[in-house]
Amino acid sequence: MASPSPSPPAKCWTLRNMILLGIFVSLLCLPFNSSAKRNDRPIIGVLAQEVYKPEPNRTAYIAASYVKFLEAAGARVVPVMINQKPEEYRRLFKSINGILYPGGGVSIVSSGYQRAAAIFYDLAIEANQKGDYFPVWGTCLGFQQLTYLTSGKRLLSKTNTSAVALPLNFTNEAKDSKIFKGFPAELTKALGTEPLTENSHNWSLTLATYNSNEELKRFYKILSTNTDGNVEFVSTMEAFDYPIYGTQWHPEKNSFEWRNPYIPHSPLAIKTTFYMADFFVNEARKSFHRFESMDEERMALIYNYNPVYTEQQQAFEQKYFF
Ligand SMILES: *[C@@H]1O[C@H](CO)[C@@H](O)[C@H](O)[C@H]1NC(C)=O
Ligand SMILES: *[C@@H]1O[C@H](CO)[C@@H](O)[C@H](O)[C@H]1NC(C)=O
Ligand SMILES: *[C@@H]1O[C@H](CO)[C@@H](O)[C@H](O)[C@H]1NC(C)=O
Ligand SMILES: *[C@@H]1O[C@H](CO)[C@@H](O)[C@H](O)[C@H]1NC(C)=O
Repeated sequence: MASPSPSPPAKCWTLRNMILLGIFVSLLCLPFNSSAKRNDRPIIGVLAQEVYKPEPNRTAYIAASYVKFLEAAGARVVPVMINQKPEEYRRLFKSINGILYPGGGVSIVSSGYQRAAAIFYDLAIEANQKGDYFPVWGTCLGFQQLTYLTSGKRLLSKTNTSAVALPLNFTNEAKDSKIFKGFPAELTKALGTEPLTENSHNWSLTLATYNSNEELKRFYKILSTNTDGNVEFVSTMEAFDYPIYGTQWHPEKNSFEWRNPYIPHSPLAIKTTFYMADFFVNEARKSFHRFESMDEERMALIYNYNPVYTEQQQAFEQKYFF
């Protein structure tokens, strides 16, 4: 008895199965792959610091320009309060995708700012060693804080750099650096020739000090230097083996601070702000930490606080007070 050959339908069946399987696998992989490579909803912590003259309900602050800086490049911000318990910081560390240590005027050896910065620094080192990406950025005081956290020493020297915009003196390492390699050529050129980087610091890490400190030399690559006319100091650095970055200058001010006449606001100055933020927020997009619940996330975000127009003060247009 002639039975119909099973092979043609079986072939069809197999082919159809393979196609279906293919579609199924690609559907499964598409969203999975893209989310596995990149976190498009990064949340970055910005560290608060003690106010100079505490008032009721105003013991710590964050300058709003740091928040706007990160928001403009696609991140949301969580304030990192000072003087919290280590376990609070550990919990927050697991919830956010990076941290920024802002500029300011508190001690890098003993302050609420320093203690929180030290805890996050240690957690970041440990996490990155285990393959858990967590970027850290230090601006001005934050840069100085990083030099102290890495070396365990006070290594700063007085410089006459409290109110000046400067072009960066790039090192040979800058071209292939993580920070600058993705910058548009026009912007890198301008950064090297025009005064686009605002300096407001009285203390600096001199190049000579960097060169004489083994911990710093092992840890950080120098991407740019500047001088105050006498002393050459480090103005941009990135760690060799960790996503840890520092600028002695202020990338956030060009777009968001207007008080001081030496802050540059030219189109290329504004691009400088954006590309620096874009770089760091992209680093945060490589981190997959997240809050345990949407409620916890909502309650942590800076949107729960209102910035205050600090008219009568010198340095900042708006501040968040805590
Ligand atoms: C401090 O904040 C609390 C809670 O928001 C409020 O109830 C209190 O009135 C504030 N105190 C002052 C002096 O502003
Ligand atoms: C400090 O630098 C400024 C220029 O940025 C200059 O005008 C001033 O004379 C310098 N002061 C000293 C004490 O060197
Ligand atoms: C730029 O840096 C180099 C290397 O440190 C140094 O020799 C040079 O004097 C610096 N130039 C300026 C304009 O600061
Ligand atoms: C630098 O020192 C001057 C004079 O001592 C002071 O007025 C200024 O606030 C200081 N600037 C910073 C950024 O600390």
